Amino acid sequence: MTDDDAPLWAGRFSAPPAPEAHALGRSLRVDVRLASVDVDASIAHVRALQDAGLVDADEAASLEEALAAVGDDIAEGRFAFPDADEDIHSAIERGVTERLGDLGAKLHAGRSRNDLVVTDLRLWLLAAGRRIDGLVVALVESIVARAREHAETVMPGTTHARFAQPVTLGHHLLAHAWALARDLDRLHQWSERTSTSALGAGAIATSTLGLDPDTTAARLGLHRAFANSIDAVGDRDFVQEFLAVASICATHLSRLAGDLARWTDESLGWATLDERYSTGSSMMPQKRNPDTAELARSKAARIAGDLVTVTALLQGLPLGYHRDLQEDKEPAFDAAHTLELVLPAITGAVATVTFNVEAMRAACADEGLYATDLAEALVRDGVPFREAHRRTGELLKRVDAEGRSLADLADDEWKAFGVPHGAELLDPDRSVAARTTPGGPSPESVRAQADMLEPIIREREP
Ligand code: ARG
Repeated sequence: MTDDDAPLWAGRFSAPPAPEAHALGRSLRVDVRLASVDVDASIAHVRALQDAGLVDADEAASLEEALAAVGDDIAEGRFAFPDADEDIHSAIERGVTERLGDLGAKLHAGRSRNDLVVTDLRLWLLAAGRRIDGLVVALVESIVARAREHAETVMPGTTHARFAQPVTLGHHLLAHAWALARDLDRLHQWSERTSTSALGAGAIATSTLGLDPDTTAARLGLHRAFANSIDAVGDRDFVQEFLAVASICATHLSRLAGDLARWTDESLGWATLDERYSTGSSMMPQKRNPDTAELARSKAARIAGDLVTVTALLQGLPLGYHRDLQEDKEPAFDAAHTLELVLPAITGAVATVTFNVEAMRAACADEGLYATDLAEALVRDGVPFREAHRRTGELLKRVDAEGRSLADLADDEWKAFGVPHGAELLDPDRSVAARTTPGGPSPESVRAQADMLEPIIREREP
């Protein structure tokens, strides 16, 4: 083994890793994304070394400068990564040592890649979480704006994808916004828990060097230092939880995408995607396909897979660091990257989709939509609901059998049914306006919901 390509840990060894063992262990392709946070974490560690009197002020300044320079080289693609570099942490330490010689060799005192990689990943995911938060806020803003535009637009609400009762488009849109608002809440709570530094935990048992983890955490802008060094290096629940939050959010995006794809289906024709968010067919000239919505729908499966990967990885793993944990990063990066890809696209599709207000209103001519209103009119007159339900069902059955519609019923037939003003109830505007329950589909409720969502969006932490 030459000194040049010897791993950081070569002292005890006489032979280098077999090439295939090295290839299996090398994580640089994935963890190179951690370069900039690794530099930040390493600079905070250098200051801890200085506070503990292990390097003097000049040495600390040189180490910081070299770390920053290596970080710049990596960011600008000037840094060469020989095959011997196992991961980004060893590559950065090597770069510093190449610049500073013996002084560089002081960098790793009191730390391990075990506490470093956790701290790096926490910093990286926290930044990704903030970006995702901003993208979700932008989507909610766009949904709220579209909902305000369509506070009065009536459409058939569906259950089992069958016409159920009239609702407003604004109400349906805001249902998606509320789900996303909960995702923001989850992201916020996750980031509060994740804001923990592992530096000072070392490999498993801290160090004898008098480093102060709290000061290091504060220097990194993290809310706290680890409480237990074994937990610090071995736990990955912050990754699993990030993926759970990401997976739930992606599920919400997929359901929004599912609605967009359905509404723009020509058999419903309730909406048209903007051309910029549609695609043509390579064979069929007439086609305008909702690929953006379909891809947004499908990416939830991928992110759920990322969550399953990390969950399976952690299950049954004894505490402490294991190399298995290296496998946490690819799913974490993939989920963050995927959300950052999907969110702007779905936001653009929502912001530009044209709703076919007339088609939605025309669909509200389906008289079955008003059956529950008729039954409730009977209930308001004291008829027990089960009886009202049966009587209304029988009315529908009779009208159907006679090949008529509710609109054909004469006044005395309505009187006989028990709701003299029955014909007036076959009206979508009236139906939604009559639903005065807060959180219901009435235009007032849609505006009130939008008003409630505004501060949730605005009061986000940066
Ligand atoms: N590349 C490793 C990871 O991502 C860093 C930690 C290596 N530690 C070790 N004891 N081999 O988890």
